[in-house]
Order: sequence, then C-alpha cells, then structure tokens
Amino acid sequence: MAYSQKVVDRFESVLNNPEQHAVGRFNPNDPDVATGLTGAPACGDVMKLQLKLAGDVIEDVKFKTYGCGSAIASSTMFVDMLKGKTVAEAKAIKDKDIATALELPAIKLHCSVLAEESIKKALENWETKTKHRQHNQ
Ligand code: FES
Repeated sequence: MAYSQKVVDRFESVLNNPEQHAVGRFNPNDPDVATGLTGAPACGDVMKLQLKLAGDVIEDVKFKTYGCGSAIASSTMFVDMLKGKTVAEAKAIKDKDIATALELPAIKLHCSVLAEESIKKALENWETKTKHRQHNQ
C-alpha cells in the first residue's frame, strides 16, 4: 500500500511544524470550546478534535491525534475544512470528502471515518453545551 503524495506531504509537514498545523489543545472548560474524542476500534488509534466557536461559526480548530499517517493527514484536512464554517456546514463534512481530498487507499478509509466521527462528537458536545447554557439563562 502506498500513501498518496498529499498524505506524505501533510504528515511530514505536521512533524516539522506541529503548531502551524493546529496541533495542540484549547482549554476544555472554555464555554466556547467543543471537544470530540474518538477511537478507532480497528487499530486503536485516537483522535481529539477541539473547535473554538463564536456563535454559530467555527473560528479555530486544534487537534491531537495518536495514529497512522493517514489519521494525522485526515486531521490536518479537517482543520482546513472546518475553519470559518458554520455548525450546519461542518455537519455536512463526510469521511468520503476527507478520503477523496487525500486520495486515501481503500485499506485506510477507516482513518477518515475516525476524522468524521471526531467532528460529529465535537458538534454533539457543542450542542450539549449550548443547551446547558440556554437552560441556565
Ligand atoms: Fe488507525 Fe489509520 S490506521 S487511524
């Protein structure tokens, strides 16, 4: 199995300059931060995605991924795809969009599924936080 040049470039770029690629974390107690943590049963890899929102818009993104090159490349891809998007637009991002953009081989499709799951979990966390905030107003 060969990784596409896009995966290799992104993976190497993250290793050389993690902060530029949004590797890191926001304070999870910040009311404007949503967190999605997902594990892939197939391989045991773990992805944590955090979104910083202003109202309905994703202003900034950070991630920490313990996994293969495709998982790390998928993480950098969702950073690009999510920044500046609304929650509704983020919900529309599918694993296939990430896999297509990175030209993932079939055997690595679960890596992009992990990325979609992380987005879903983060958005669920955001909805829970929003409901909680509205309830307490
Ligand atoms: Fe585990 Fe890619 S092999 S996420």
